[in-house]
Amino acid sequence: MKVLINKPGCVGHARCNNVAPALYPLDDNGYIASTGFSVPQGQESLAQRGARACPERVIEIRDTPAEPR
Ligand code: F3S
Repeated sequence: MKVLINKPGCVGHARCNNVAPALYPLDDNGYIASTGFSVPQGQESLAQRGARACPERVIEIRDTPAEPR
C-alpha cells in the first residue's frame, strides 16, 4: 500500500498528523512534509485513517499488490 500526497493542495489542517504523527510529519510551516511513501506493514489502517482525516482530500491511498511476507 502506498500513500500519495498532493502537497501543494495542503492548507495545514494538521488532522493527518493528529491521527498518525509518525506517518504524516509536518514541516516548519505546519504543512504536510511528505509527497508520499510506502506504508510500513501493520500501519495500513492508521495510514487510511490519517488520509480520511484530511478535509482537503490531498492524501490518496493507493493499494498495491500484497507483498510477500
Ligand atoms: Fe494538510 Fe490535510 Fe494534513 S490539509 S496538514 S494534508 S490534514
